[in-house]
Amino acid sequence: DRAPLPSRRPRQDANIPRAMRPLRLALVASELAPFAKTGGLADVLLGLGRWLGKKAPQGPGHDVRLFVPLYRRIEKSGLKTTPLPGAQNIDVRFPQRTIRFSIRTAPLPQSDVVVHFVDCKELFDREGIYTEDGDEALRFGLLSRAVPETCQRLQWAPDVVHCNDWHTGLLPLYLKTVYAWDKLFAGTKTVLTIHNIGYQGLFPDSQLDVLGLGDQRAHVHHGDLRDGKLSFLKTGVLHAHRLTTVSRTYAREIQTAEYGMGMDELLRSRSQDLVGIVNGVDYGEWDPQTDPRIPHHFTVDDLSGKAKMKAAMLQRFSLPHDPRAPVFGVVSRLTAQKGFELFADSIPVFLQREDMRLCVLGSGEDKHEKYFQWLRDTWPHKVGIFRGFQEDLAHWIEAGSDLFLMPSRFEPCGLNQMYSLRYGTPPIVRRTGGLADTVEAWDPHTRRGTGFLFDEYSSKALAGTIDWALRNWRDQLGWRQLVKNGMQRDFSWNRQGPEYLALYRALLGL
Ligand code: ADP
Ligand code: GLC
Repeated sequence: DRAPLPSRRPRQDANIPRAMRPLRLALVASELAPFAKTGGLADVLLGLGRWLGKKAPQGPGHDVRLFVPLYRRIEKSGLKTTPLPGAQNIDVRFPQRTIRFSIRTAPLPQSDVVVHFVDCKELFDREGIYTEDGDEALRFGLLSRAVPETCQRLQWAPDVVHCNDWHTGLLPLYLKTVYAWDKLFAGTKTVLTIHNIGYQGLFPDSQLDVLGLGDQRAHVHHGDLRDGKLSFLKTGVLHAHRLTTVSRTYAREIQTAEYGMGMDELLRSRSQDLVGIVNGVDYGEWDPQTDPRIPHHFTVDDLSGKAKMKAAMLQRFSLPHDPRAPVFGVVSRLTAQKGFELFADSIPVFLQREDMRLCVLGSGEDKHEKYFQWLRDTWPHKVGIFRGFQEDLAHWIEAGSDLFLMPSRFEPCGLNQMYSLRYGTPPIVRRTGGLADTVEAWDPHTRRGTGFLFDEYSSKALAGTIDWALRNWRDQLGWRQLVKNGMQRDFSWNRQGPEYLALYRALLGL
């Protein structure tokens, strides 16, 4: 519906060796910390975006542009954004309606990266990041189309469009179909990262017409179509050039029926193109030595600040403080994924028997919230709970607890266990996904290891491991080593980021 524009690539490429050429990278997602966050996706986009955009010592960094919706909460936060010249009042024609958006920009804090906020009041000026409204598919369909539309206006040819989770699953197909005519994208490759296969973006197939993909039925998953469904995530898996997920173990797991959530067969068919890259940690945000969100700081050589954090945190939870009583921390979305159902037949035994504390920050399903409330009511001097989402309290719990509980049924990567390692809070985790790849079992004889792991998804296995952890807690000298081991592990983006860069370059043949 528009005459092709001449495509050009910036001249600066000409004299730079191919392997060193800075890349033009569009990162697209539904969440980005600190602006819009419900979980780890937001942290990963912030950390990876910052790392990729960092200026190289000998020249410019990569040209990274992050695309996220301008949700109401971002506007209400008072963030100052600026209209991006040339990318205002862009009309996107869908079969049943035309939707207009503009791009507003703001710097990503402490980085050289510019965030492109997709400003579309009619779709994003709502209470939640995610909704159950009838146009949810269209909201994220627009996010996907806003990327090529903006690139066209700016005549900016991305080398890689890096999509994340189902919300961006249609983008590779849009590029192959609606935008196939435009030479601007002739060299563009797409990567889709699966952060969580539990969310697939499943809609009635009538949405294909709404989204302007009515002619593309041949290119969406046939089995779903037979069932009258359209899956955003499967569409992405079918059409992205390369697929990644957020740990090596999860990359293996999702190709099995047990963890694949109905996508294992499809993923097996693309296993050559699927890799697992463990998430990095942004130690600019999560480091007990510098964290501005906590009042007492500490290092591996001086843990006195951690003892103070324990006291301060217990006070915040209105719980009595005793340095000898271990504090278990939980910071989590309260969903089936996180395995809290295993608490029912394990935690009460310990609360009854041990002088311990349990400090919980979480929000999500009612039944989990109610369960934690019941624990609190039953052991008011041992259990504390805050419901809702509180960024600063999450940091306090990482810093002030002695042990971190994460008994996930499945865990693509998990960031909290890596944060807790850094904050001297050994995690108790189930050996699955990224938890298996980032936590090493503590062995008191060799004094190696960073935490406590169990395999079987059962209350009994969890209880056995909590018991084992408590026995180790009583040997404070060994414990000191365990804490030290974890604090010294490095999961920074400086280690994990190069894996993404290598993947982009390989894909581009550079
Ligand atoms: P997931 O993405 O599955 O929720 P991760 O461990 O990767 O799990 O990331 C969770 C992120 O969300 C962490 O930064 C954690 O601190 C944060 N988080 C989860 N629940 C809350 C909450 N209720 N309040 C504040 N932060 C939370
Ligand atoms: C998802 C996963 C979590 C992962 C995060 C960031 O929400 O549940 O394991 O760490 O995405 O990749």
